Amino acid sequence: MRNEPKKKTSSILGYAIFFFTIASAVIVALYAYILSDRLSGGNRAVISVVMLAVIITLSLLCTLFDIVRRKIMIDRPVREILEATEKIAAGDFSVRLTAVHTYEKYDDYDLIKENLNVMAAELGKSEILKTDFVSNVSHELKTPLSIIQNYVSLIGKSGLDEETRQKYVKTVLSATKRLSDLVGNILKLNKLEHQELSIETENIRLDEMLAQAILSYEELIEEKELEILCDFEEVSIVSAPSYLEIVWNNLISNAIKFTNNGGKISVSVKSDGEKSIVKVSDTGCGISPETGAHIFDKFYQGDTSHAQEGNGLGLALVKKVIDVLGGEISVKSQQGKGSTFTIVLKGLR
Ligand SMILES: Nc1ncnc2c1ncn2[C@@H]1O[C@H](COP(=O)(O)OP(=O)(O)OP(=O)(O)O)[C@@H](O)[C@H]1O
Ligand SMILES: [Mg+2]
Repeated sequence: MRNEPKKKTSSILGYAIFFFTIASAVIVALYAYILSDRLSGGNRAVISVVMLAVIITLSLLCTLFDIVRRKIMIDRPVREILEATEKIAAGDFSVRLTAVHTYEKYDDYDLIKENLNVMAAELGKSEILKTDFVSNVSHELKTPLSIIQNYVSLIGKSGLDEETRQKYVKTVLSATKRLSDLVGNILKLNKLEHQELSIETENIRLDEMLAQAILSYEELIEEKELEILCDFEEVSIVSAPSYLEIVWNNLISNAIKFTNNGGKISVSVKSDGEKSIVKVSDTGCGISPETGAHIFDKFYQGDTSHAQEGNGLGLALVKKVIDVLGGEISVKSQQGKGSTFTIVLKGLR
């Protein structure tokens, strides 16, 4: 970390020079007054004129010095900063200003410049994020929309047997589900990022909530013949059920999605002092270290074979919720063997 710069040195020097110039003008004037008092006649008049000239010259010098000082130390950096802010206001976030002094001797203008640089860089980053987000959303919208378009036109054709028609209808339904999930997740993420979701807390039995979440996937679990192992302690917690629902649904749906038929999913909850710990493990495909580094990013999907299912927003939402609730989430995984997601929550009753 850098040390705080020693500010003000240069401005103190400027004020000192200004003060000494004025002081010398006043001293010379006083001296002239005393001297002229001792002299007589013509000499007195000459000295007075000379002293007057010296005083005027010194005052002029003083004014000149102040003009130059202002030009160099105030006008120049202010103009530079003004031009930079105009560029930023016009949407050019590539602007970078150079500090005049070394970091230790930064003055206020150098600090403003550095802050402006940081601001421009941050604005540039959020602009990139915004563009990425829009292109990701457009991409995610395009795929199911073209599926719907194609299949609806196929269904519209005559001579389709009932079985094929049912198959097409199922495909259209799954594409519309994907679309509505996408829109729902984007809305939730947006609300969470702007802190618009009111956190209404209440007493919750975590074990009951988890059991409910697992039950809602009963059909899928049966379809994939998955074995579900539950190790539940009775854990009561004061938290926001609407938020926690997002977490359990995403973790359980991921475990189901990324585990092959006949695999095993284990869910456990226990309390540990002030904390409650929930684990969701599976014997699925696992997560490589490269994928693991991005799983909480928006729209990131590591396992391309499941890219048709979902949009890569699930874990981004989970992470956001856990951050808002002040908890922790971690993942341990071995490729080909499975993954374990661990959530630690506070607020135990
Ligand atoms: N239990 C898991 N086993 C293996 N990989 C996983 C597991 N959970 C998440 N992943 C990896 O992390 C990626 C991101 O997960 P996330 O839940 O955000 O997206 P998704 O499930 O692909 O889509 P969505 O959640 O929008 O339906 C997944 O695409 C997958 O590569
Ligand atoms: Mg998911």
